[in-house]
Amino acid sequence: MSSTSLDVAVEVRKVWKLYRIGKTFYPALRGVSLRIPKGSFVIILGPSGSGKSTLMHLMGALDTPTRGSVYLAGKNVSKLSDVERAKLRRDYVGFVFQQFYLIPRLSALENVELPMIAKGLPRGIRHRRAKKLLALVGLKGKENNKPIELSGGEQQRVAIARALANDPDLILADEPTGNLDTATSESIMNLMLDMNERMGKTVVVVTHNPEQVKYSHYVVKIRDGKIVSVGEGGRRPPYPPEVLLPD
Ligand SMILES: Nc1ncnc2c1ncn2[C@@H]1O[C@H](COP(=O)(O)OP(=O)(O)O)[C@@H](O)[C@H]1O
Ligand SMILES: [Mg+2]
Repeated sequence: MSSTSLDVAVEVRKVWKLYRIGKTFYPALRGVSLRIPKGSFVIILGPSGSGKSTLMHLMGALDTPTRGSVYLAGKNVSKLSDVERAKLRRDYVGFVFQQFYLIPRLSALENVELPMIAKGLPRGIRHRRAKKLLALVGLKGKENNKPIELSGGEQQRVAIARALANDPDLILADEPTGNLDTATSESIMNLMLDMNERMGKTVVVVTHNPEQVKYSHYVVKIRDGKIVSVGEGGRRPPYPPEVLLPD
């Protein structure tokens, strides 16, 4: 498979990310290259502090690299203005985090509506779509609950519905099951699988749990800010794993 015929959701090329600590710089990523084919489900595995969250932030255009480049939906993220970057993020990426990050004083429905408000969708459309998304993630009847009135697993479902609000191509989930028990984790991972298989989204999930590899096409291992291996996950991948490593 040549890279020219491969549809790519996001690609990072020789990326370095340095964090400044006082007078010194700490390299969280040290020359990472990774290409995520459209429609694939990729799991990123690595110990705490290996640079997983830093990589996710760069892939989702929440941040820009110190060196190297990130191409999101074919656009070089470093060359965009802050406004352009925010717009690309809003339209192309849905984020799911370990801590859910729901707004406590808003209902489940209002939390899901938020990204659509940012996009300027009219109230009626927002309302209908948020309701539909909450039903899709199994929360019919809980639309008016505040986050505190929901279990951890339910809160993560709201966060997933919110990630889907603007119908993004790419879902980036940073340890989405990190705060959940085993059974709830399985149900959240099954939602991730649905988003990939049924909805056709490209899905990248950071996890500590090697058992979750079964949901993915590819597994990327990262250590000390470097990719150490790329292999097949538990589902038959559309392309060989080598396509994930650009030259
Ligand atoms: N804002 C920051 N300032 C300084 N160091 C940071 C910052 N964010 C992350 N780091 C450091 O960079 C390394 C990678 O962090 P991170 O990407 O969060 O790893 P992971 O998600 O794999 O646990 C860690 O050593 C962490 O302490
Ligand atoms: Mg992290």
